[in-house]
Amino acid sequence: GFKSKVTVVGSGNWGSVAAKLIASNTLKLNSFHDEVRMWVFEETLQTGEKLTDVINKTNENVKYLPGIRLGKNVVADPDLDNAVKDANMLVFVTPHQFMEGICKRLVGKVRGDVEAISLIKGMEVKMEGPCMISNLISEQLGINCSVLMGANIANEIAVEKFSEATVGYRHNREIAEQWVKLFGTPYFMVTPVQDVEGVELCGTLKNIVAIAAGFVDGLDMGNNTKAAIMRIGLREMKAFSKLLFSSVRDSTFFESCGVADVITTCLGGRNRKVAEAFARNGGKRSFDELEAEMLQGQKLQGVSTAREVYEVLSHRGWLELFPLFSTVHEICIGHLPPSAIVEYSEKKPKLS
Ligand code: NAD
Ligand code: 13P
Repeated sequence: GFKSKVTVVGSGNWGSVAAKLIASNTLKLNSFHDEVRMWVFEETLQTGEKLTDVINKTNENVKYLPGIRLGKNVVADPDLDNAVKDANMLVFVTPHQFMEGICKRLVGKVRGDVEAISLIKGMEVKMEGPCMISNLISEQLGINCSVLMGANIANEIAVEKFSEATVGYRHNREIAEQWVKLFGTPYFMVTPVQDVEGVELCGTLKNIVAIAAGFVDGLDMGNNTKAAIMRIGLREMKAFSKLLFSSVRDSTFFESCGVADVITTCLGGRNRKVAEAFARNGGKRSFDELEAEMLQGQKLQGVSTAREVYEVLSHRGWLELFPLFSTVHEICIGHLPPSAIVEYSEKKPKLS
């Protein structure tokens, strides 16, 4: 019978773990080709070797996921066109800021019958307004695109600790079931939800909340303050999502992609970690500088997402409805001190 071919576009920290999860399943399931192709944005390591060659030789992404075997059936490929040309299932998982360029390069290069899924937490803001990454992929490439989001710190899933995730799909439940089959393992429990926008906005917006939580940590404010920030953040996530898309469901915020991802990212994520350092330095060292120093090539999504959301809020006259989101941005760009993160709430947000 027909066997699906899977390509993973991206090979960072989460991208590599996604390839490992998928590769463990394609070996077991007859409906998929064993081989999983993984597009690698090529770079030369300090040893002088190419990252792709090292991955294919050692079966390990030594830069972005050291110490973890990906599975022998993962093949790293530095050539984007070649990596996608035969695939009929495409998994997009790069930092969101690179997706516009990647989509442009892929126009006309993917199969017409391809199904896509985005694991990318972030959005683009265009003249016409906000554009979710799944929508960018759909529109640029003329293909259907689902999303997978959740409380998924990559390094924990890499060592097979139990977690849950949410697949958001648009119309076709069978396609969602295919993705659940491809990703799900006993330690990675995936639930489909018919709410692409809700699931993707949860994954995107929680990164702003995580920056706020990091500020709170850097100010040594304690657990009650952090819980308050998480609650207010979740409320702004829901309000903003519903203002953008009236179809977004309340129940989505109780899935892994909602409250659970807010919690895990505010406790153990990279956005939290770098924001803590930013606040400890009194905002005197920039996020770019701290990111480069602390994350070894991995990328933050929360700072640019805060800016993108701020653009939408100011353009639509919604700034005072979202004091947490807007304050995070103003702190990131140095217009407010980190301590402002707990002062904004005195402004009495007008959300119900
Ligand atoms: P990452 O943070 O490890 O970023 C590094 C990757 O970016 C590397 O593969 C690098 O080659 C690539 N890169 C650098 N410059 C590039 C360029 N100019 N063009 C294309 N690629 C370039 O990436 P990640 O952790 O895999 O994150 C990808 C997405 O997954 C993000 O949206 C993130 O929010 C989301 N996510 C991450 C985690 C996690 O724990 N890491 C968990 C869930 C979701
Ligand atoms: P960070 O990018 O803050 O590490 O968050 C990872 C994540 O999305 C966990 O679900």
